[in-house]
Amino acid sequence: MKAIQFERFGGPEVLALVDLPVPEPTGAQVRVAVRVAGVNPADWKRREGSFGPQQFPAGTGFEIAGVVDAAGPDASWRVGDEVIGWAADNRGYAEYALSTQLAPKPATLSFPDAVAVPVAANTASGGLEVLGVKSGETLVINGASGAVGAMAVQLARATGARVIGTASQRNQQVVRDLGAEPVTYGDGVAERIRALAPDGVDAIFDCAGHGFLDAAIELRGGVDRIVTIADGAAAEKGVPFYSRQGGAALDIVERVARLVADGEFRLPGAARSYPLAEAAAAQRESQTGHGLGKIVITVG
Ligand SMILES: NC(=O)c1ccc[n+]([C@@H]2O[C@H](COP(=O)([O-])OP(=O)(O)OC[C@H]3O[C@@H](n4cnc5c(N)ncnc54)[C@H](OP(=O)(O)O)[C@@H]3O)[C@@H](O)[C@H]2O)c1
Repeated sequence: MKAIQFERFGGPEVLALVDLPVPEPTGAQVRVAVRVAGVNPADWKRREGSFGPQQFPAGTGFEIAGVVDAAGPDASWRVGDEVIGWAADNRGYAEYALSTQLAPKPATLSFPDAVAVPVAANTASGGLEVLGVKSGETLVINGASGAVGAMAVQLARATGARVIGTASQRNQQVVRDLGAEPVTYGDGVAERIRALAPDGVDAIFDCAGHGFLDAAIELRGGVDRIVTIADGAAAEKGVPFYSRQGGAALDIVERVARLVADGEFRLPGAARSYPLAEAAAAQRESQTGHGLGKIVITVG
């Protein structure tokens, strides 16, 4: 099968299209014939070595949508099931991937739209749980136009919270359409948020990083009820860095996928697709940090 792997840390140029044996599922694993792989910032951060030591050759990509192609003896999926979820061992940019972390893909949702859900829903819901956002509270989301931020806006709005969301100038309307009050990020962001919420904000979810935590701490008057998924300086500032531990929230992924399929939740933009052989270009685009719409690798 065709797959992308890399033999050393580096830029997008280290990614190579190679031929590998088709993997065999064991135990509770299934083999998924990958239709599209989602591109996440974590893919290029791992490729650059930011996540620490790595065995080589390494695969890349962990978010997939596809069709179950073979099932291990203890698997709960059947051949032919359409699924979304996580590829084992960061080997998602491939024609076939093994997985145990899957949710059903709604039949009416396209594969490129479906692959926008797992990581975004899993991460956004987890961050909101940590913050304990309740109906009537005011929440700030930094990076509200991004994959995770857009999902966080809609999940928070569904709980009855008021949401103020940061984005670039060109994505202000996108954030409004998601249900949040938009402000531009960058210099003066704390003042712009204060102008919208003069009595203060109850919680802050940093879904983008880029040094927003100083403004967040200023707005909250301390580090209470701030969480980041993206700022490497979180620990030195005393802010929790959130990353879901102990397996994905597959029930939430399934629920959000249905909401997207039913038109009750929206994706921030249309998918931007690259063929498997152009995985490097897909990661290069993700590295611009200004994505609108999911970057996907179309495999099958
Ligand atoms: N900890 C975890 O478990 C976890 C899970 C998933 C993602 N993440 C991290 O979360 C971050 C976002 O991921 P994603 O997939 O949502 O990325 P994405 O879709 O590429 O979105 C990036 C977002 O960042 C915004 N942005 C760009 N420059 C900014 C700036 N200077 N200040 C504030 N916002 C800025 C973008 O807004 P515009 O497009 O409007 O410029 C956009 O909303 C990444 O760092 C990723 O690694 C962490």
